[in-house]
Amino acid sequence: MLSQKLIDAINDQIQYEYYSAFIYKAMQAYFEDEDLPGMANWMNIQFQEEMSHAEKLFQFVCETGGRVLMQSMETPHNDYRSPLHVFEEALRHEQIVTAKINDLMELAQQEKNHAAQIFLQWFVTEQVEEEANANHIIAKLKRVKEDGRGLMMVDQELSKRVYAPPV
Ligand code: FEO
Repeated sequence: MLSQKLIDAINDQIQYEYYSAFIYKAMQAYFEDEDLPGMANWMNIQFQEEMSHAEKLFQFVCETGGRVLMQSMETPHNDYRSPLHVFEEALRHEQIVTAKINDLMELAQQEKNHAAQIFLQWFVTEQVEEEANANHIIAKLKRVKEDGRGLMMVDQELSKRVYAPPV
């Protein structure tokens, strides 16, 4: 059902989603250390989301008769200058993910694999939300600048995020 080329490309994306989870866990650790529990919570939810993205792709490869091959990961950044810097890095990372998902979709289109295209559509839509989420928080942090009270309010808001498994 999937060509080996498509399996290999989705396999790479599975690894990248796990790497994304790893990056967000590093960001959570930074916020835990900075005593910003709301932002740490937001990153932990993001970690869980990335794990679910990897799992969704993993199951798709298995269901279509492919074989997932796990790979090693590079060490994520652990040092950040500020909350704004973290979320700017998160956005930059999501833009890379979006480009990778678009490449995957293009490959599925070239191969006229309709099942893969329908499956990948979920990820195309998800990436719009991923980038928008990071952008909204960046905008808030830019307004807050160095104001500690404003930062606490953003932290409080991000503490409300809860994990919702993908459907
Ligand atoms: Fe799985 Fe944040 O993209």
